[in-house]
Amino acid sequence: MSTKRINVIDREGNEHSVGWSADQSLMEVLRDNDFPILASCGGTASCATCHVFLEKDAFPSSGERSEDELELLAETDTYIADQSRLSCQLTYESSCGGATVTIAPE
Ligand code: FES
Repeated sequence: MSTKRINVIDREGNEHSVGWSADQSLMEVLRDNDFPILASCGGTASCATCHVFLEKDAFPSSGERSEDELELLAETDTYIADQSRLSCQLTYESSCGGATVTIAPE
């Protein structure tokens, strides 16, 4: 199975390089590597507890946000228009391998 790397900045500001397998969403990568994201809806784009900030350079190639994703993100206190994504909606194919994502504050 193919894998790629992604850099994750945790809530303490520490950077980690983690593997991303083709069958995982970014939320699953974060959860499987014990990052403290709740992901309480299980990946159905309805809780926003998997909110991450994608680095600006990688954002355009990460794909379009759905209306539901955008609506949910815009309701958060920490929404950044050109960086916020729900990590459960970022698939392996979303072209952000090698990019840096920062886990949003709780
Ligand atoms: S896990 Fe709930 S919105 Fe992503």
